[in-house]
Amino acid sequence: MLSVPQSQSTRSLIFTDALMGKAVPRAPFWFMRQAGRYLPEYRRLRQEAGSFLKLCFTPELAAEVTLQPVRRFNMDAAILFSDILVIPYALGQQLDFVEGEGPQLGPLNAATFAYDEKKLSPVFETIRRVRQQLSPETALIGFAGAPWTLACYMVQGKGDGAFESVKSIAMQDADKFDAFLDLITGATILYLSAQIDAGADTVQIFDSWAGVLPEPYFSRWIILPTQKIVQALRQLHPETPIIGFPREAGALYPKYAAETGVNGLGIGWETPLERAAHDVPKNVCLQGNLDPLLLLKGGVAMIDGAKRILETARGRPFIFNLGHGVIKETPPVHVAELSDFLRNFRW
Ligand code: CP3
Repeated sequence: MLSVPQSQSTRSLIFTDALMGKAVPRAPFWFMRQAGRYLPEYRRLRQEAGSFLKLCFTPELAAEVTLQPVRRFNMDAAILFSDILVIPYALGQQLDFVEGEGPQLGPLNAATFAYDEKKLSPVFETIRRVRQQLSPETALIGFAGAPWTLACYMVQGKGDGAFESVKSIAMQDADKFDAFLDLITGATILYLSAQIDAGADTVQIFDSWAGVLPEPYFSRWIILPTQKIVQALRQLHPETPIIGFPREAGALYPKYAAETGVNGLGIGWETPLERAAHDVPKNVCLQGNLDPLLLLKGGVAMIDGAKRILETARGRPFIFNLGHGVIKETPPVHVAELSDFLRNFRW
Protein backbone atom coordinates (compact mmCIF):
# COMPACT_ATOMS: atom_id res chain seq x y z
CA MET A 1 0.00 0.00 0.00
CA LEU A 2 1.32 3.45 -0.86
CA SER A 3 1.13 5.89 2.02
CA VAL A 4 0.36 9.57 1.75
CA PRO A 5 3.22 11.49 3.35
CA GLN A 6 1.96 13.05 6.54
CA SER A 7 3.89 14.68 9.30
CA GLN A 8 4.14 12.94 12.66
CA SER A 9 1.89 15.51 14.25
CA THR A 10 -1.03 14.77 11.90
CA ARG A 11 -0.64 10.99 11.91
CA SER A 12 -2.03 9.06 14.81
CA LEU A 13 -0.16 5.85 15.42
CA ILE A 14 -1.04 3.48 18.24
CA PHE A 15 2.70 2.84 18.58
CA THR A 16 3.92 6.40 19.06
CA ASP A 17 0.76 7.28 21.04
CA ALA A 18 1.68 4.61 23.58
CA LEU A 19 5.23 5.96 23.73
CA MET A 20 3.89 9.46 24.37
CA GLY A 21 1.64 8.17 27.16
CA LYS A 22 -1.62 8.75 25.25
CA ALA A 23 -4.59 6.38 25.69
CA VAL A 24 -4.58 3.45 23.23
CA PRO A 25 -7.15 0.64 22.78
CA ARG A 26 -4.60 -2.19 23.19
CA ALA A 27 -0.89 -2.72 23.71
CA PRO A 28 0.99 -2.16 20.45
CA PHE A 29 3.58 -4.83 19.68
CA TRP A 30 6.72 -5.66 17.71
CA PHE A 31 9.55 -8.13 18.27
CA MET A 32 13.26 -7.39 18.44
CA ARG A 33 15.02 -9.13 15.54
CA GLN A 34 11.63 -9.61 13.88
CA ALA A 35 13.42 -9.62 10.52
CA GLY A 36 15.98 -12.36 10.20
CA ARG A 37 17.00 -15.95 9.91
CA TYR A 38 13.85 -17.60 11.35
CA LEU A 39 12.01 -16.44 8.18
CA PRO A 40 12.57 -18.51 5.01
CA GLU A 41 12.02 -15.43 2.82
CA TYR A 42 14.84 -13.68 4.75
CA ARG A 43 17.20 -16.60 4.26
CA ARG A 44 16.50 -16.51 0.52
CA LEU A 45 17.33 -12.80 0.17
CA ARG A 46 20.31 -13.14 2.50
CA GLN A 47 21.71 -15.82 0.23
CA GLU A 48 20.99 -13.74 -2.86
CA ALA A 49 22.86 -10.77 -1.35
CA GLY A 50 25.85 -12.97 -0.50
CA SER A 51 26.92 -11.12 2.61
CA PHE A 52 25.09 -9.62 5.56
CA LEU A 53 26.62 -6.17 5.01
CA LYS A 54 25.67 -6.20 1.33
CA LEU A 55 22.09 -6.91 2.46
CA CYS A 56 22.24 -3.98 4.91
CA PHE A 57 23.67 -1.58 2.29
CA THR A 58 21.43 -2.45 -0.68
CA PRO A 59 18.32 -0.31 -0.07
CA GLU A 60 16.03 -2.39 -2.28
CA LEU A 61 16.91 -5.59 -0.40
CA ALA A 62 17.13 -4.02 3.06
CA ALA A 63 13.69 -2.41 2.58
CA GLU A 64 12.22 -5.73 1.49
CA VAL A 65 13.68 -7.54 4.52
CA THR A 66 12.34 -4.79 6.83
CA LEU A 67 8.84 -5.30 5.42
CA GLN A 68 8.82 -9.12 5.37
CA PRO A 69 7.76 -9.71 9.00
CA VAL A 70 5.18 -6.91 8.95
CA ARG A 71 3.52 -8.38 5.88
CA ARG A 72 3.24 -11.74 7.56
CA PHE A 73 2.33 -10.73 11.10
CA ASN A 74 1.13 -7.11 10.90
CA MET A 75 3.09 -5.81 13.86
CA ASP A 76 2.45 -2.20 14.90
CA ALA A 77 6.00 -1.26 13.95
CA ALA A 78 8.65 -2.20 11.42
CA ILE A 79 12.29 -1.87 12.45
CA LEU A 80 14.84 -0.71 9.93
CA PHE A 81 16.98 -3.63 8.76
CA SER A 82 20.60 -2.71 9.46
CA ASP A 83 23.05 -3.29 12.30
CA ILE A 84 24.41 -1.27 15.20
CA LEU A 85 27.97 -1.80 13.91
CA VAL A 86 27.52 0.43 10.85
CA ILE A 87 28.59 3.36 13.06
CA PRO A 88 32.11 1.96 13.68
CA TYR A 89 32.23 1.33 9.92
CA ALA A 90 31.26 4.96 9.17
CA LEU A 91 33.90 6.14 11.67
CA GLY A 92 36.56 4.30 9.66
CA GLN A 93 36.96 0.93 11.41
CA GLN A 94 37.16 -2.20 9.27
CA LEU A 95 34.00 -4.33 9.73
CA ASP A 96 33.31 -7.92 8.65
CA PHE A 97 30.62 -10.40 9.53
CA VAL A 98 32.25 -13.80 9.52
CA GLU A 99 29.90 -16.69 8.70
CA GLY A 100 29.06 -18.57 11.91
CA GLU A 101 31.25 -16.31 14.08
CA GLY A 102 29.51 -12.96 14.15
CA PRO A 103 31.04 -9.50 13.76
CA GLN A 104 34.77 -8.79 13.61
CA LEU A 105 36.22 -5.29 13.70
CA GLY A 106 39.66 -4.14 12.58
CA PRO A 107 42.33 -2.40 14.70
CA LEU A 108 41.19 0.52 16.79
CA ASN A 109 42.76 3.71 15.57
CA ALA A 110 40.60 6.29 17.29
CA ALA A 111 42.93 9.19 16.43
CA THR A 112 42.16 8.77 12.72
CA PHE A 113 38.44 8.09 13.10
CA ALA A 114 36.04 10.60 11.58
CA TYR A 115 32.33 10.12 10.95
CA ASP A 116 31.59 9.90 7.23
CA GLU A 117 27.81 10.02 6.86
CA LYS A 118 27.98 9.38 3.11
CA LYS A 119 28.93 5.78 3.90
CA LEU A 120 25.50 5.39 5.50
CA SER A 121 23.42 6.99 2.75
CA PRO A 122 22.02 3.55 1.72
CA VAL A 123 20.50 3.29 5.23
CA PHE A 124 18.60 6.56 4.78
CA GLU A 125 17.46 5.45 1.33
CA THR A 126 16.17 2.20 2.89
CA ILE A 127 14.13 4.22 5.38
CA ARG A 128 12.59 6.34 2.61
CA ARG A 129 11.66 3.23 0.64
CA VAL A 130 10.16 1.47 3.64
CA ARG A 131 8.15 4.52 4.62
CA GLN A 132 6.66 4.69 1.11
CA GLN A 133 5.53 1.09 1.19
CA LEU A 134 4.48 0.81 4.83
CA SER A 135 0.87 1.38 5.84
CA PRO A 136 0.48 4.84 7.46
CA GLU A 137 -0.78 3.16 10.67
CA THR A 138 2.47 1.24 11.12
CA ALA A 139 5.38 2.97 12.80
CA LEU A 140 8.92 2.75 11.48
CA ILE A 141 11.63 2.35 14.12
CA GLY A 142 15.14 3.60 13.40
CA PHE A 143 17.95 2.57 15.74
CA ALA A 144 21.55 2.80 16.83
CA GLY A 145 23.78 1.10 19.34
CA ALA A 146 24.48 3.08 22.49
CA PRO A 147 28.06 4.44 22.77
CA TRP A 148 29.08 1.97 25.53
CA THR A 149 27.87 -1.10 23.59
CA LEU A 150 29.55 0.12 20.40
CA ALA A 151 32.77 0.77 22.32
CA CYS A 152 32.66 -2.83 23.62
CA TYR A 153 32.77 -4.19 20.07
CA MET A 154 35.16 -1.51 18.81
CA VAL A 155 37.76 -2.02 21.54
CA GLN A 156 37.56 -5.80 21.72
CA GLY A 157 37.08 -6.37 17.98
CA LYS A 158 34.37 -8.98 18.57
CA GLY A 159 31.68 -9.92 21.07
CA ASP A 160 32.35 -12.31 23.95
CA GLY A 161 29.75 -11.47 26.57
CA ALA A 162 31.56 -10.10 29.59
CA PHE A 163 33.84 -7.51 27.93
CA GLU A 164 36.23 -7.59 30.87
CA SER A 165 39.17 -6.37 28.80
CA VAL A 166 37.14 -3.35 27.67
CA LYS A 167 36.07 -2.55 31.24
CA SER A 168 39.65 -2.81 32.35
CA ILE A 169 41.00 -0.51 29.61
CA ALA A 170 38.19 1.99 30.24
CA MET A 171 38.65 2.08 34.01
CA GLN A 172 42.41 2.45 33.74
CA ASP A 173 42.20 5.64 31.70
CA ALA A 174 38.68 6.88 32.27
CA ASP A 175 39.28 10.38 30.86
CA LYS A 176 40.56 8.99 27.59
CA PHE A 177 37.57 6.65 27.45
CA ASP A 178 35.21 9.61 28.02
CA ALA A 179 36.69 11.26 24.93
CA PHE A 180 36.29 8.07 22.90
CA LEU A 181 32.61 7.79 23.93
CA ASP A 182 32.11 11.47 23.01
CA LEU A 183 33.28 10.72 19.49
CA ILE A 184 30.76 7.88 19.17
CA THR A 185 28.03 9.97 20.82
CA GLY A 186 28.47 12.81 18.32
CA ALA A 187 28.25 10.43 15.36
CA THR A 188 25.20 8.71 16.85
CA ILE A 189 23.33 12.00 17.21
CA LEU A 190 23.92 12.85 13.54
CA TYR A 191 23.05 9.32 12.44
CA LEU A 192 19.76 9.09 14.37
CA SER A 193 18.77 12.59 13.37
CA ALA A 194 19.27 11.69 9.70
CA GLN A 195 17.16 8.54 10.19
CA ILE A 196 14.32 10.69 11.57
CA ASP A 197 14.70 13.12 8.65
CA ALA A 198 14.40 10.17 6.28
CA GLY A 199 11.13 9.02 7.87
CA ALA A 200 11.73 7.07 11.11
CA ASP A 201 8.81 7.68 13.53
CA THR A 202 10.82 6.74 16.60
CA VAL A 203 14.35 5.54 17.38
CA GLN A 204 15.62 2.87 19.75
CA ILE A 205 19.03 3.01 21.41
CA PHE A 206 20.33 -0.53 22.03
CA ASP A 207 22.65 -0.77 25.04
CA SER A 208 23.02 -4.55 24.95
CA TRP A 209 25.96 -4.62 27.37
CA ALA A 210 24.71 -2.03 29.90
CA GLY A 211 24.55 -4.81 32.49
CA VAL A 212 28.31 -5.28 32.75
CA LEU A 213 29.03 -1.84 34.29
CA PRO A 214 28.73 -1.08 38.02
CA GLU A 215 28.17 2.39 39.45
CA PRO A 216 29.63 5.01 39.14
CA TYR A 217 30.60 3.86 35.64
CA PHE A 218 27.01 3.03 34.75
CA SER A 219 26.09 6.69 35.23
CA ARG A 220 29.19 7.91 33.44
CA TRP A 221 29.23 5.61 30.39
CA ILE A 222 25.64 4.43 30.04
CA ILE A 223 23.43 7.22 31.36
CA LEU A 224 25.43 10.33 30.42
CA PRO A 225 26.07 9.54 26.71
CA THR A 226 22.43 8.44 26.30
CA GLN A 227 21.24 11.61 28.00
CA LYS A 228 23.34 13.66 25.53
CA ILE A 229 21.79 11.81 22.59
CA VAL A 230 18.24 12.25 23.93
CA GLN A 231 18.75 15.96 24.63
CA ALA A 232 20.24 16.65 21.20
CA LEU A 233 17.48 14.75 19.39
CA ARG A 234 14.77 16.55 21.44
CA GLN A 235 16.15 19.87 20.21
CA LEU A 236 16.21 18.74 16.60
CA HIS A 237 13.04 16.60 16.57
CA PRO A 238 10.85 17.51 19.55
CA GLU A 239 7.96 15.30 18.39
CA THR A 240 9.91 12.09 17.94
CA PRO A 241 9.77 9.68 20.88
CA ILE A 242 12.92 7.79 21.90
CA ILE A 243 13.23 4.27 23.33
CA GLY A 244 16.23 3.20 25.40
CA PHE A 245 17.10 -0.46 26.03
CA PRO A 246 19.84 -0.78 28.66
CA ARG A 247 19.76 -4.57 28.75
CA GLU A 248 20.32 -6.20 32.13
CA ALA A 249 20.39 -2.83 33.90
CA GLY A 250 18.54 -4.48 36.82
CA ALA A 251 18.14 -2.13 39.78
CA LEU A 252 19.51 0.76 37.68
CA TYR A 253 16.60 0.80 35.19
CA PRO A 254 14.65 3.52 37.08
CA LYS A 255 17.72 5.79 37.36
CA TYR A 256 18.42 5.30 33.65
CA ALA A 257 14.82 6.23 32.76
CA ALA A 258 14.73 9.28 35.01
CA GLU A 259 18.12 10.69 33.99
CA THR A 260 18.25 9.95 30.26
CA GLY A 261 14.69 11.22 29.68
CA VAL A 262 13.74 8.44 27.23
CA ASN A 263 10.02 8.06 26.44
CA GLY A 264 10.18 4.28 26.26
CA LEU A 265 12.21 1.81 28.31
CA GLY A 266 13.02 -1.69 27.04
CA ILE A 267 13.05 -4.32 29.80
CA GLY A 268 15.07 -7.50 29.29
CA TRP A 269 13.47 -10.90 30.01
CA GLU A 270 15.68 -11.34 33.11
CA THR A 271 13.99 -8.47 34.94
CA PRO A 272 10.54 -9.19 36.42
CA LEU A 273 8.14 -6.74 34.79
CA GLU A 274 6.40 -6.34 38.17
CA ARG A 275 9.60 -4.84 39.48
CA ALA A 276 10.02 -2.41 36.59
CA ALA A 277 6.32 -1.44 36.69
CA HIS A 278 6.64 -0.70 40.39
CA ASP A 279 9.92 1.24 40.20
CA VAL A 280 9.64 3.20 36.93
CA PRO A 281 7.26 6.21 36.91
CA LYS A 282 4.12 5.89 34.78
CA ASN A 283 5.11 8.69 32.42
CA VAL A 284 7.64 6.24 30.94
CA CYS A 285 6.28 3.64 28.51
CA LEU A 286 7.69 0.20 29.34
CA GLN A 287 8.49 -2.22 26.53
CA GLY A 288 9.10 -5.95 26.77
CA ASN A 289 9.68 -8.51 28.06
CA LEU A 290 8.69 -12.04 27.01
CA ASP A 291 11.55 -14.53 27.12
CA PRO A 292 12.41 -15.37 23.47
CA LEU A 293 12.57 -19.04 24.54
CA LEU A 294 8.81 -18.95 25.18
CA LEU A 295 8.29 -17.79 21.60
CA LEU A 296 10.51 -20.63 20.46
CA LYS A 297 8.44 -23.08 22.54
CA GLY A 298 5.02 -21.67 21.52
CA GLY A 299 1.64 -22.97 22.69
CA VAL A 300 0.13 -22.47 26.13
CA ALA A 301 3.41 -21.48 27.81
CA MET A 302 3.90 -18.68 25.30
CA ILE A 303 0.33 -17.35 25.57
CA ASP A 304 0.37 -17.60 29.38
CA GLY A 305 3.66 -15.70 29.44
CA ALA A 306 2.17 -12.98 27.24
CA LYS A 307 -1.00 -12.75 29.39
CA ARG A 308 1.07 -12.41 32.54
CA ILE A 309 3.00 -9.50 31.02
CA LEU A 310 -0.13 -7.74 29.78
CA GLU A 311 -1.84 -8.11 33.18
CA THR A 312 1.21 -6.63 34.88
CA ALA A 313 1.36 -3.68 32.47
CA ARG A 314 -2.38 -2.89 32.78
CA GLY A 315 -2.99 0.76 33.54
CA ARG A 316 0.26 2.16 32.22
CA PRO A 317 1.72 2.97 28.78
CA PHE A 318 3.12 -0.26 27.43
CA ILE A 319 4.49 -1.81 24.23
CA PHE A 320 4.62 -5.59 24.05
CA ASN A 321 7.93 -7.06 22.88
CA LEU A 322 10.34 -9.83 23.66
CA GLY A 323 13.01 -9.37 26.32
CA HIS A 324 15.71 -9.91 23.64
CA GLY A 325 15.79 -10.89 19.96
CA VAL A 326 13.86 -13.67 18.18
CA ILE A 327 15.92 -16.88 18.22
CA LYS A 328 16.70 -18.14 14.73
CA GLU A 329 15.15 -21.60 15.28
CA THR A 330 11.75 -20.02 16.14
CA PRO A 331 8.89 -21.45 14.03
CA PRO A 332 7.13 -18.58 12.19
CA VAL A 333 3.72 -20.08 13.15
CA HIS A 334 4.48 -19.25 16.79
CA VAL A 335 5.07 -15.63 15.84
CA ALA A 336 1.75 -15.67 13.94
CA GLU A 337 -0.10 -17.14 16.94
CA LEU A 338 1.35 -14.62 19.38
CA SER A 339 0.66 -11.71 17.01
CA ASP A 340 -3.01 -12.77 16.63
CA PHE A 341 -3.35 -13.06 20.39
CA LEU A 342 -1.85 -9.59 20.93
CA ARG A 343 -3.93 -7.92 18.25
CA ASN A 344 -7.14 -9.23 19.85
CA PHE A 345 -6.23 -8.72 23.50
CA ARG A 346 -8.16 -5.98 25.31
CA TRP A 347 -7.32 -4.81 28.79
O1 CP3 B 1 14.94 -7.14 13.01
C1 CP3 B 1 15.68 -6.35 13.62
O2 CP3 B 1 15.71 -6.31 14.87
C2 CP3 B 1 16.46 -5.32 12.85
C3 CP3 B 1 17.84 -5.57 12.53
C4 CP3 B 1 18.92 -5.69 13.59
C5 CP3 B 1 20.02 -6.56 13.40
N1 CP3 B 1 20.90 -6.34 14.43
C6 CP3 B 1 20.19 -7.50 12.27
C7 CP3 B 1 21.17 -8.59 12.35
C8 CP3 B 1 19.12 -4.99 14.78
C9 CP3 B 1 18.22 -3.98 15.47
C10 CP3 B 1 20.38 -5.42 15.30
C11 CP3 B 1 20.99 -4.87 16.53
C12 CP3 B 1 22.24 -5.44 17.03
N2 CP3 B 1 23.31 -5.89 16.32
C13 CP3 B 1 22.58 -5.51 18.41
C14 CP3 B 1 21.72 -5.02 19.55
C15 CP3 B 1 20.64 -5.97 19.92
C16 CP3 B 1 21.12 -7.22 20.59
O3 CP3 B 1 21.03 -8.28 19.92
O4 CP3 B 1 21.60 -7.16 21.72
C17 CP3 B 1 23.86 -6.08 18.49
C18 CP3 B 1 24.63 -6.35 19.77
C19 CP3 B 1 24.32 -6.31 17.16
C20 CP3 B 1 25.66 -6.84 16.74
C21 CP3 B 1 25.53 -8.10 15.98
N3 CP3 B 1 25.00 -8.21 14.70
C22 CP3 B 1 25.94 -9.40 16.38
C23 CP3 B 1 26.59 -9.74 17.72
C24 CP3 B 1 25.64 -10.27 15.33
C25 CP3 B 1 25.97 -11.74 15.24
C26 CP3 B 1 25.10 -12.57 16.09
C27 CP3 B 1 24.01 -13.20 15.27
O5 CP3 B 1 22.85 -13.18 15.71
O6 CP3 B 1 24.36 -13.74 14.20
C28 CP3 B 1 25.01 -9.52 14.30
C29 CP3 B 1 24.50 -10.04 13.02
C30 CP3 B 1 23.08 -9.73 12.66
N4 CP3 B 1 22.45 -8.53 12.85
C31 CP3 B 1 22.17 -10.62 12.00
C32 CP3 B 1 20.97 -9.91 11.81
C33 CP3 B 1 19.73 -10.38 11.12
C34 CP3 B 1 22.50 -12.04 11.54
C35 CP3 B 1 23.34 -11.97 10.31
C36 CP3 B 1 22.98 -12.95 9.21
O7 CP3 B 1 21.85 -12.94 8.70
O8 CP3 B 1 23.89 -13.68 8.84
